Amino acid sequence: MFPFWSHAIAPLLEVVRPATVLEIGSQHGETTQQVLAALPTAELHVIDPAPGFDVEAWQTRHGERFVFHRALSLDVLPSLPPVDLALVDGDHNWFTVSNELDVLRRTAASAGRPLPVLVLHDVCWPYGRRDGYYAPETVPAEHRQPFAYQGMVPGRSELVADGGTNGWIANAAHEGGPRNGVRTALEDFLADLPSEGPDVRCLVIEVLAGLAIVASDDQRTRRPDLDALLDRLADPRVRATIHDEGVAELRAIFGHPDDGTDGA
Ligand SMILES: C[S@@+](CC[C@H](N)C(=O)[O-])C[C@H]1O[C@@H](n2cnc3c(N)ncnc32)[C@H](O)[C@@H]1O
Repeated sequence: MFPFWSHAIAPLLEVVRPATVLEIGSQHGETTQQVLAALPTAELHVIDPAPGFDVEAWQTRHGERFVFHRALSLDVLPSLPPVDLALVDGDHNWFTVSNELDVLRRTAASAGRPLPVLVLHDVCWPYGRRDGYYAPETVPAEHRQPFAYQGMVPGRSELVADGGTNGWIANAAHEGGPRNGVRTALEDFLADLPSEGPDVRCLVIEVLAGLAIVASDDQRTRRPDLDALLDRLADPRVRATIHDEGVAELRAIFGHPDDGTDGA
């Protein structure tokens, strides 16, 4: 998610000024740390079953406003309070993401609050149209695609026996089709929003692994700068900058541009 930080996520936090934020999937805590620094008084709920940082030390450092849930998102989300903004970057599959979005919508609606501003990573290749499963046994078999621990290559639906991207994760055997991938989950969520609302604007930044931002009309009316920011992020020149800077950053970290999912 970090290639999107300076041009998209940081300005979004500045405009939305959320009092409560949720991060699904924190890994090494790179984005977590940035959110805590950017919003010094906000409460941040973080969900990750296998964090790669010292959660207890972070809890001591940040106090009660840093609330960590060592769990699968769908096990803990229904018991969380409504949030103003949610960063969704956990298990990259249709079942998990569509249910995460649905629980977030229902929680907000039952509290009489607007849909949180939703920020989803991995809406483009490789997981936009293909499920990945960190732990396939945690996703009900009837909601899983056939999968294999093999890598992915752009433009090719089948997995590859040697090399490719993210072969250490269980990846759906084929790309595309119904109920497959994060982008498909987002589109299905938007298509299934109840007719009574909320109405939303959805912007997809189609560079690198892709970032989607969903803002309800309610949020955009309350925060007039939100539309201006989304307009700016729709500008191809801004996207080109995000792409070029992101590729340089990924190259510096991984030695190749890849897609940003290994470490982001
Ligand atoms: C791509 S990484 C997140 C990167 C992070 N957002 C960042 O910007 O640095 C995905 C993380 O999601 C976690 N994860 C996997 N399945 C999950 C689930 N069902 N619920 C929450 N987190 C999950 C993994 O343990 C991993 O740390």
